[in-house]
Amino acid sequence: MSKPKVIISRKWPEQVEAQLKELYDVQLNESDEAMTVEQMQDALRNCDAFCPTVTDPVNAAVLGADGITAKMIGSYGVGYNHIDLKAAETAGLTVSNTPEVLTDCTADIAMGLLLSAARRIGEGERHLRNGEWTGWRPTHMIATKVTGKTLGCIGFGRIAQAMAQRAHFGFGMKIIFSDPYPPSQEVMNRFGAVHMSAEEVLAQADFVSLHCPGGESTYHLINEERIKMMKPTAILVNSARGDVVDNQALISALKNGTIAGAGLDVFEGEPKLDPGFLDCENAVLLPHLGSASLETRIAMGERVLENLAAFFAGKAPRDKLV
Ligand code: DGY
Repeated sequence: MSKPKVIISRKWPEQVEAQLKELYDVQLNESDEAMTVEQMQDALRNCDAFCPTVTDPVNAAVLGADGITAKMIGSYGVGYNHIDLKAAETAGLTVSNTPEVLTDCTADIAMGLLLSAARRIGEGERHLRNGEWTGWRPTHMIATKVTGKTLGCIGFGRIAQAMAQRAHFGFGMKIIFSDPYPPSQEVMNRFGAVHMSAEEVLAQADFVSLHCPGGESTYHLINEERIKMMKPTAILVNSARGDVVDNQALISALKNGTIAGAGLDVFEGEPKLDPGFLDCENAVLLPHLGSASLETRIAMGERVLENLAAFFAGKAPRDKLV
Protein backbone atom coordinates (compact mmCIF):
# COMPACT_ATOMS: atom_id res chain seq x y z
CA MET A 1 0.00 0.00 0.00
CA SER A 2 1.38 3.42 -0.90
CA LYS A 3 2.15 5.88 1.85
CA PRO A 4 -0.19 8.87 2.35
CA LYS A 5 1.08 12.12 0.82
CA VAL A 6 1.71 14.83 3.42
CA ILE A 7 2.77 18.41 2.66
CA ILE A 8 4.49 20.50 5.35
CA SER A 9 4.30 24.29 5.04
CA ARG A 10 7.48 25.32 6.91
CA LYS A 11 10.71 23.78 8.16
CA TRP A 12 10.25 21.59 11.27
CA PRO A 13 12.95 20.39 13.72
CA GLU A 14 15.02 17.71 11.98
CA GLN A 15 14.07 15.04 14.55
CA VAL A 16 10.41 15.21 13.49
CA GLU A 17 11.17 15.71 9.80
CA ALA A 18 13.06 12.38 9.97
CA GLN A 19 9.95 10.67 11.36
CA LEU A 20 7.80 12.27 8.66
CA LYS A 21 10.14 10.91 5.96
CA GLU A 22 9.89 7.42 7.38
CA LEU A 23 6.12 7.35 7.70
CA TYR A 24 4.85 9.35 4.74
CA ASP A 25 5.42 10.38 1.17
CA VAL A 26 6.30 13.81 2.50
CA GLN A 27 7.01 17.15 0.83
CA LEU A 28 9.08 19.27 3.20
CA ASN A 29 9.84 22.98 2.85
CA GLU A 30 13.65 23.14 2.82
CA SER A 31 13.74 26.87 1.98
CA ASP A 32 11.39 27.62 4.92
CA GLU A 33 9.71 30.40 2.94
CA ALA A 34 6.06 31.09 3.76
CA MET A 35 3.63 29.63 1.22
CA THR A 36 1.39 31.91 -0.87
CA VAL A 37 -2.38 31.39 -1.18
CA GLU A 38 -1.81 29.70 -4.55
CA GLN A 39 0.87 27.40 -3.13
CA MET A 40 -1.43 26.38 -0.27
CA GLN A 41 -4.26 25.72 -2.74
CA ASP A 42 -1.90 23.59 -4.85
CA ALA A 43 -0.79 21.75 -1.73
CA LEU A 44 -4.41 20.94 -0.84
CA ARG A 45 -4.94 19.64 -4.40
CA ASN A 46 -1.90 17.36 -4.21
CA CYS A 47 -1.88 15.65 -0.83
CA ASP A 48 -3.85 13.62 1.68
CA ALA A 49 -2.87 15.85 4.60
CA PHE A 50 -1.58 19.41 4.73
CA CYS A 51 0.31 20.66 7.80
CA PRO A 52 0.34 24.46 8.11
CA THR A 53 1.62 26.49 11.04
CA VAL A 54 -0.05 29.30 12.96
CA THR A 55 1.27 31.90 10.49
CA ASP A 56 -0.26 30.28 7.37
CA PRO A 57 -3.70 31.79 6.76
CA VAL A 58 -5.76 28.76 5.75
CA ASN A 59 -8.77 30.95 5.04
CA ALA A 60 -11.95 30.60 2.99
CA ALA A 61 -10.09 31.57 -0.21
CA VAL A 62 -7.55 28.77 0.31
CA LEU A 63 -10.18 26.23 1.33
CA GLY A 64 -12.52 27.24 -1.51
CA ALA A 65 -10.05 25.97 -4.14
CA ASP A 66 -11.43 23.43 -6.59
CA GLY A 67 -10.05 19.90 -6.79
CA ILE A 68 -8.97 19.59 -3.15
CA THR A 69 -7.73 16.04 -2.46
CA ALA A 70 -6.58 16.65 1.12
CA LYS A 71 -8.77 15.19 3.83
CA MET A 72 -6.85 16.39 6.86
CA ILE A 73 -5.21 19.60 8.12
CA GLY A 74 -2.78 18.82 10.91
CA SER A 75 -1.83 22.27 12.14
CA TYR A 76 1.48 22.74 13.96
CA GLY A 77 0.55 25.03 16.88
CA VAL A 78 -2.17 25.41 19.47
CA GLY A 79 -3.91 28.57 18.20
CA TYR A 80 -6.27 28.03 15.28
CA ASN A 81 -7.53 31.49 14.40
CA HIS A 82 -5.51 31.18 11.13
CA ILE A 83 -7.85 28.41 9.93
CA ASP A 84 -11.42 29.00 8.79
CA LEU A 85 -12.88 25.97 10.58
CA LYS A 86 -16.33 26.36 8.99
CA ALA A 87 -14.85 26.45 5.48
CA ALA A 88 -12.66 23.45 6.34
CA GLU A 89 -15.68 21.50 7.54
CA THR A 90 -17.62 22.44 4.41
CA ALA A 91 -14.69 21.22 2.30
CA GLY A 92 -14.89 17.89 4.20
CA LEU A 93 -11.58 18.33 6.01
CA THR A 94 -10.67 17.15 9.50
CA VAL A 95 -8.58 19.75 11.38
CA SER A 96 -6.34 19.26 14.43
CA ASN A 97 -3.98 21.45 16.50
CA THR A 98 -1.26 20.78 19.13
CA PRO A 99 -2.47 21.79 22.62
CA GLU A 100 -0.79 21.06 25.99
CA VAL A 101 2.77 20.43 24.77
CA LEU A 102 3.58 24.16 24.58
CA THR A 103 1.80 25.28 27.75
CA ASP A 104 4.88 25.50 30.00
CA CYS A 105 7.15 27.16 27.45
CA THR A 106 4.57 29.81 26.61
CA ALA A 107 3.93 30.50 30.29
CA ASP A 108 7.71 30.81 30.79
CA ILE A 109 7.89 33.49 28.08
CA ALA A 110 4.88 35.33 29.54
CA MET A 111 6.50 35.31 32.99
CA GLY A 112 9.81 36.34 31.41
CA LEU A 113 8.12 39.29 29.71
CA LEU A 114 6.43 40.27 32.97
CA LEU A 115 9.75 40.22 34.85
CA SER A 116 11.66 41.94 32.05
CA ALA A 117 9.14 44.75 31.70
CA ALA A 118 8.75 45.19 35.48
CA ARG A 119 12.50 45.21 36.21
CA ARG A 120 13.59 47.01 33.00
CA ILE A 121 15.79 44.08 31.98
CA GLY A 122 15.91 44.83 28.23
CA GLU A 123 16.40 48.52 28.86
CA GLY A 124 19.18 47.83 31.38
CA GLU A 125 21.01 45.54 28.97
CA ARG A 126 20.79 48.13 26.17
CA HIS A 127 22.10 50.78 28.61
CA LEU A 128 25.09 48.61 29.47
CA ARG A 129 25.86 47.52 25.89
CA ASN A 130 25.68 51.15 24.76
CA GLY A 131 28.44 52.01 27.24
CA GLU A 132 26.15 54.29 29.25
CA TRP A 133 26.63 52.62 32.67
CA THR A 134 28.49 54.83 35.11
CA GLY A 135 28.06 52.64 38.21
CA TRP A 136 25.65 51.64 40.98
CA ARG A 137 23.69 54.40 42.65
CA PRO A 138 20.48 54.40 44.75
CA THR A 139 18.35 56.05 42.08
CA HIS A 140 19.65 54.24 39.01
CA MET A 141 17.05 52.55 36.73
CA ILE A 142 14.42 52.21 39.44
CA ALA A 143 11.72 49.72 38.48
CA THR A 144 8.66 47.94 39.91
CA LYS A 145 8.70 45.09 42.44
CA VAL A 146 6.95 41.91 41.29
CA THR A 147 6.70 39.78 44.45
CA GLY A 148 3.35 40.03 46.22
CA LYS A 149 1.63 42.04 43.47
CA THR A 150 -1.63 41.18 41.68
CA LEU A 151 -1.59 39.30 38.36
CA GLY A 152 -4.74 39.66 36.26
CA CYS A 153 -5.26 37.12 33.48
CA ILE A 154 -7.64 37.81 30.61
CA GLY A 155 -8.58 34.24 29.74
CA PHE A 156 -7.81 31.45 32.19
CA GLY A 157 -7.10 28.33 30.15
CA ARG A 158 -4.08 26.06 30.30
CA ILE A 159 -1.39 28.68 29.59
CA ALA A 160 -2.89 31.24 31.99
CA GLN A 161 -3.06 28.58 34.72
CA ALA A 162 0.61 27.70 34.12
CA MET A 163 1.41 31.43 34.37
CA ALA A 164 -0.65 31.66 37.58
CA GLN A 165 1.28 28.73 39.03
CA ARG A 166 4.60 30.51 38.38
CA ALA A 167 3.31 33.86 39.64
CA HIS A 168 1.49 32.55 42.72
CA PHE A 169 3.96 29.96 43.99
CA GLY A 170 7.15 31.58 42.66
CA PHE A 171 6.39 35.23 43.38
CA GLY A 172 3.60 35.15 45.98
CA MET A 173 1.27 36.96 43.60
CA LYS A 174 -2.48 37.27 44.05
CA ILE A 175 -4.35 35.92 40.99
CA ILE A 176 -7.49 37.45 39.49
CA PHE A 177 -8.93 36.56 36.10
CA SER A 178 -11.75 36.93 33.62
CA ASP A 179 -12.97 34.15 31.35
CA PRO A 180 -16.37 33.43 29.79
CA TYR A 181 -15.74 29.75 30.63
CA PRO A 182 -14.07 29.73 34.06
CA PRO A 183 -12.36 26.52 35.21
CA SER A 184 -13.63 24.40 38.09
CA GLN A 185 -13.59 25.73 41.65
CA GLU A 186 -10.88 23.16 42.39
CA VAL A 187 -8.58 24.74 39.76
CA MET A 188 -9.33 28.24 41.08
CA ASN A 189 -8.61 27.14 44.65
CA ARG A 190 -5.20 25.84 43.56
CA PHE A 191 -3.98 29.42 43.03
CA GLY A 192 -6.57 31.20 45.18
CA ALA A 193 -7.71 32.70 41.86
CA VAL A 194 -10.69 35.05 41.88
CA HIS A 195 -13.06 35.26 38.90
CA MET A 196 -14.37 38.71 37.87
CA SER A 197 -15.19 40.76 34.78
CA ALA A 198 -12.43 41.85 32.37
CA GLU A 199 -13.05 45.47 33.39
CA GLU A 200 -12.54 44.61 37.08
CA VAL A 201 -9.35 42.71 36.24
CA LEU A 202 -8.01 45.69 34.30
CA ALA A 203 -8.78 48.07 37.16
CA GLN A 204 -7.30 45.90 39.94
CA ALA A 205 -4.28 44.16 38.42
CA ASP A 206 -0.69 45.35 38.69
CA PHE A 207 0.15 43.09 35.74
CA VAL A 208 -2.39 42.17 33.07
CA SER A 209 -1.49 39.07 31.06
CA LEU A 210 -3.50 38.16 27.96
CA HIS A 211 -4.36 34.49 27.48
CA CYS A 212 -7.46 34.59 25.30
CA PRO A 213 -7.71 33.19 21.78
CA GLY A 214 -7.34 35.50 18.76
CA GLY A 215 -9.93 36.05 16.07
CA GLU A 216 -13.15 38.01 15.73
CA SER A 217 -14.45 37.58 19.28
CA THR A 218 -11.38 39.16 20.89
CA TYR A 219 -10.30 41.59 18.14
CA HIS A 220 -9.00 44.80 19.83
CA LEU A 221 -10.38 43.70 23.18
CA ILE A 222 -7.57 45.81 24.64
CA ASN A 223 -8.40 49.16 23.07
CA GLU A 224 -7.94 52.76 24.21
CA GLU A 225 -10.97 52.64 26.52
CA ARG A 226 -9.88 49.44 28.27
CA ILE A 227 -6.24 50.50 28.54
CA LYS A 228 -7.46 53.60 30.39
CA MET A 229 -9.11 51.30 32.96
CA MET A 230 -5.65 49.99 33.94
CA LYS A 231 -3.56 51.49 36.75
CA PRO A 232 -0.95 54.01 35.55
CA THR A 233 1.65 51.76 37.22
CA ALA A 234 0.38 48.61 35.46
CA ILE A 235 2.18 46.49 32.88
CA LEU A 236 0.49 44.65 30.00
CA VAL A 237 1.84 41.27 28.84
CA ASN A 238 0.72 39.70 25.56
CA SER A 239 1.80 36.18 24.67
CA ALA A 240 -1.58 35.30 23.11
CA ARG A 241 -2.40 36.90 19.76
CA GLY A 242 -1.41 40.31 18.42
CA ASP A 243 -4.81 41.42 17.21
CA VAL A 244 -6.27 41.23 20.73
CA VAL A 245 -4.51 44.58 21.26
CA ASP A 246 -5.03 47.79 19.28
CA ASN A 247 -1.42 48.69 18.36
CA GLN A 248 -2.04 52.44 18.12
CA ALA A 249 -3.88 52.59 21.44
CA LEU A 250 -1.07 50.68 23.19
CA ILE A 251 1.74 52.72 21.62
CA SER A 252 0.05 55.99 22.69
CA ALA A 253 -0.55 54.62 26.19
CA LEU A 254 3.12 53.60 26.51
CA LYS A 255 4.32 56.97 25.24
CA ASN A 256 2.04 59.18 27.33
CA GLY A 257 2.28 57.15 30.54
CA THR A 258 -1.31 55.85 30.66
CA ILE A 259 0.32 52.57 31.72
CA ALA A 260 3.88 51.90 32.87
CA GLY A 261 5.02 49.29 30.39
CA ALA A 262 4.39 46.23 28.25
CA GLY A 263 5.93 42.87 27.45
CA LEU A 264 4.93 41.70 23.99
CA ASP A 265 5.62 38.44 22.16
CA VAL A 266 2.92 38.88 19.50
CA PHE A 267 1.82 41.83 17.38
CA GLU A 268 -1.10 42.83 15.25
CA GLY A 269 0.10 42.49 11.63
CA GLU A 270 3.26 40.50 12.60
CA PRO A 271 5.94 39.97 11.41
CA LYS A 272 5.64 43.64 10.44
CA LEU A 273 6.27 45.65 13.58
CA ASP A 274 4.62 49.01 14.04
CA PRO A 275 7.69 51.31 14.26
CA GLY A 276 5.99 53.16 17.12
CA PHE A 277 6.91 50.26 19.43
CA LEU A 278 10.62 50.83 18.77
CA ASP A 279 10.41 54.28 20.38
CA CYS A 280 8.99 52.78 23.59
CA GLU A 281 11.84 52.02 26.00
CA ASN A 282 9.17 50.77 28.42
CA ALA A 283 8.18 47.92 26.08
CA VAL A 284 9.95 44.56 25.92
CA LEU A 285 9.55 43.17 22.40
CA LEU A 286 10.02 39.54 21.31
CA PRO A 287 9.49 37.91 17.89
CA HIS A 288 6.73 35.37 18.78
CA LEU A 289 8.97 33.03 20.78
CA GLY A 290 6.38 31.55 23.17
CA SER A 291 6.86 27.92 22.16
CA ALA A 292 10.42 28.28 20.84
CA SER A 293 12.36 25.68 22.82
CA LEU A 294 13.76 22.65 20.99
CA GLU A 295 11.95 20.21 23.29
CA THR A 296 8.63 21.95 22.74
CA ARG A 297 8.99 22.35 18.97
CA ILE A 298 9.80 18.61 18.72
CA ALA A 299 6.82 17.78 20.94
CA MET A 300 4.56 19.92 18.74
CA GLY A 301 5.72 18.03 15.65
CA GLU A 302 5.19 14.71 17.41
CA ARG A 303 1.68 15.79 18.36
CA VAL A 304 0.93 16.49 14.68
CA LEU A 305 2.33 13.04 13.86
CA GLU A 306 0.05 11.48 16.49
CA ASN A 307 -2.96 13.26 14.98
CA LEU A 308 -2.02 12.19 11.44
CA ALA A 309 -1.48 8.58 12.52
CA ALA A 310 -4.93 8.44 14.13
CA PHE A 311 -6.56 10.00 11.08
CA PHE A 312 -4.91 7.60 8.63
CA ALA A 313 -5.89 4.68 10.91
CA GLY A 314 -9.52 5.76 10.51
CA LYS A 315 -9.82 7.16 14.05
CA ALA A 316 -10.64 10.65 15.33
CA PRO A 317 -7.40 12.55 15.99
CA ARG A 318 -6.85 13.34 19.69
CA ASP A 319 -6.84 17.09 18.97
CA LYS A 320 -9.65 17.17 16.41
CA LEU A 321 -11.16 20.66 16.09
CA VAL A 322 -13.67 19.79 13.33
C1 DGY B 1 0.67 28.69 18.89
O1 DGY B 1 1.00 27.50 18.83
O2 DGY B 1 -0.49 29.06 18.77
C2 DGY B 1 1.76 29.70 19.16
O3 DGY B 1 1.37 30.98 18.87
C3 DGY B 1 3.04 29.33 18.44
O4 DGY B 1 3.57 28.26 19.12
